[in-house]
Amino acid sequence: AAATGYEAENAVISSGTVATNHTGYTGTGFVDYTNIVGSSVEFTVDAGAAGRRGLLLRYANGTAVDRPMDISVNGTVVTAGASFPATANWDTWTTRTVDANLVAGTNTIRATATTPNGGPNLDNLTLGAPSTGGSGPA
Ligand code: GCU
Repeated sequence: AAATGYEAENAVISSGTVATNHTGYTGTGFVDYTNIVGSSVEFTVDAGAAGRRGLLLRYANGTAVDRPMDISVNGTVVTAGASFPATANWDTWTTRTVDANLVAGTNTIRATATTPNGGPNLDNLTLGAPSTGGSGPA
């Protein structure tokens, strides 16, 4: 499918591989995190103006258990152990929104696995409205 937002396969991958062995991804593939603590994907995004945003992470998790990840912005964890619960199978993608304050212009957003199972399969990141409302400077 067409590229959407920031594709995980184009991000900086630490302990993970670009894969295409499941359907429904956008762009040219997705990231299959290595099944270890600390595997990560780091996106560089342009926020435009500073403010609170929703970080929409599109993922699949075809197992029965959560694949939590720490979400950091510009090197600081903003949500520790964000939940990425099971989806129906590895071909079924869903979007999980984590809210964060971004600075104007360039920001780095990293999603780091916190369990030995590694992260879910990660397809893309888009910036949107925060899920819980509110706004303001970073
Ligand atoms: C399977 C699946 C992969 C997934 C992996 C995992 O091998 O095909 O796409 O990444 O499980 O458990 O992480």
